[in-house]
Order: sequence, then C-alpha cells, then structure tokens
Amino acid sequence: MLSEVYVDQPDYAALAAAAYEARERAYAPYSRFRVGAAVLTASGRIFPGVNIENAAYPMTICAERVALFSAYAAGEREIVALAVVTPTDEVASPCGACRQVMLELAPRAVVLLLSQHGQQQRITPQELLPHGFGPLQLEGAREQPE
Ligand code: THU
Repeated sequence: MLSEVYVDQPDYAALAAAAYEARERAYAPYSRFRVGAAVLTASGRIFPGVNIENAAYPMTICAERVALFSAYAAGEREIVALAVVTPTDEVASPCGACRQVMLELAPRAVVLLLSQHGQQQRITPQELLPHGFGPLQLEGAREQPE
C-alpha cells in the first residue's frame, strides 16, 4: 500500500533544524540573502540545499531546487516535506521557478516556510502554484495528431 512507504509522522522540527543548519553553507556573496532548505523523503532521508550564486547572476540556483534535485539525484522520488528558511522577519514565498519545480517533483509535499526567527507557515505546491503547467499537459499534447 502506498501509505506504507510514507513517513507516518513527519518530524517537521528535525526538517526545520536541517534547513536552518544548511543555511550556514549558503553561497550568496552577491545578494547576501542566505537561504537554507531541506527535503524529507518517504524513505526518511533528509537532503539539504542552499542557494548557490554566480558572478553571472542568472546562473544562481535557489536552495529549494538544490535540495529537491539532490534528493532526485540520490534516486528519491517521493518527497514528504520541504522546509525553507529565509533571512527575513516574516516567512517569504518561494520564487516562481521553485514553485514550478515543486509542483512536478514534490506534488504531495508539505512545504514549510520558515522565517529567520522561527515563524512558520505550512502550504502546498498546489497552493503556491495554482493552475500550474505540468506533465499532464504534455501527455494531452502527445495524443494530438501532428
Ligand atoms: N532564493 C532562494 O534560494 N530561495 C527563495 O525562496 C528565494 C530566493 C535565493 C536566490 C538568490 O541567491 C537570493 O535568494 C536572492 O534572490
């Protein structure tokens, strides 16, 4: 049964702690906006992520995508939760690119937004990106004659 592979009681406190710890390793020399993230998979593993900037600014990647890609690179496919910590007094919303990636790579995840002082908000990828473009739209197009 699918529910058996799920982490029954996700340890959100441990996931949040991993995201706060990851933030120390952010590489953000240009914006100085240090972000940490952590992904919890159904197998119980936690994958950290940080934002990694580049002198060619658009090459920068957000902490959320680093954490998600790292989990996928390790072969994980079921993301239970994703925590993200921003250096802000209020929780901050993930960027549009990360919302798009979350919707496809972590559609059943709980997203935990955290401020620098521990303020929290739980939200879903669907709430973050309503009416998002996803794999289903591509499936539909393949059925169309050329
Ligand atoms: N950033 C993230 O890592 N995640 C977010 O949710 C918002 C933005 C990064 C990208 C860039 O390195 C810096 O924060 C400022 O935009």
